[in-house]
Amino acid sequence: MATDIVLRDVIEEDLAIFYEHQLDPEAIRMAAFTVKDPTDRDAFLVQWAAIVADSTKQKKTILCNGEVAGHVGSFEQFGLPSVSYWLGKAYWGKGVASKALSLFLNEAKTRPLYARAAKDNRGSIRVLQKCGFVITGEDRGFANGRNEEIEEFILTLQADCSLQESIKEGKS
Ligand SMILES: CC(C)(COP(=O)(O)OP(=O)(O)OC[C@H]1O[C@@H](n2cnc3c(N)ncnc32)[C@H](O)[C@@H]1OP(=O)(O)O)[C@@H](O)C(=O)NCCC(=O)NCCS
Repeated sequence: MATDIVLRDVIEEDLAIFYEHQLDPEAIRMAAFTVKDPTDRDAFLVQWAAIVADSTKQKKTILCNGEVAGHVGSFEQFGLPSVSYWLGKAYWGKGVASKALSLFLNEAKTRPLYARAAKDNRGSIRVLQKCGFVITGEDRGFANGRNEEIEEFILTLQADCSLQESIKEGKS
């Protein structure tokens, strides 16, 4: 079945679904730099209410064939404009993140734009590289999702980068 990916503004009804997505232990391990207690629903909803209310943060819900599959957005991290995304596990491995990030980058024009990913989060690094990000640095930090210090890559998207042809043409 063809996968139809659309971005739209985040609405309150999406938040309960995002909350469920970020409870998944495998996803927490991949993302690694998560909140301390992902099961704290109230804290999650307060954090997201602030994100939605903040017009300087760009955030979109990813719809996959009309269903809420996750979110993608940009915010300031370590003083730099940075992207992040998270998909529910049911939507992994279908090109959804690559397509959603490329759609987001068509709307979010800030360059350079940055991203961080745990060095072993191969899926996330690949998604970023397919969208034109290149590895430009590395860092170490305490990862709540693993309860230890780990290494991460810093990736950068420059103004002159080009998306991979397959994503541009919507084949993902
Ligand atoms: C990382 C994540 C966004 C990937 O989403 P996705 O929709 O499955 O990614 P795509 O299907 O677009 O895959 C893009 C590429 O990455 C590869 N990939 C995806 N997941 C992978 C994994 N776990 N291990 C290795 N490669 C992976 C795909 O094979 C594809 O490569 P290809 O185009 O060369 O064949 C998703 O797994 C997720 O939300 N994880 C939890 C949260 C997270 O890690 N967020 C990012 C924090 S930095």
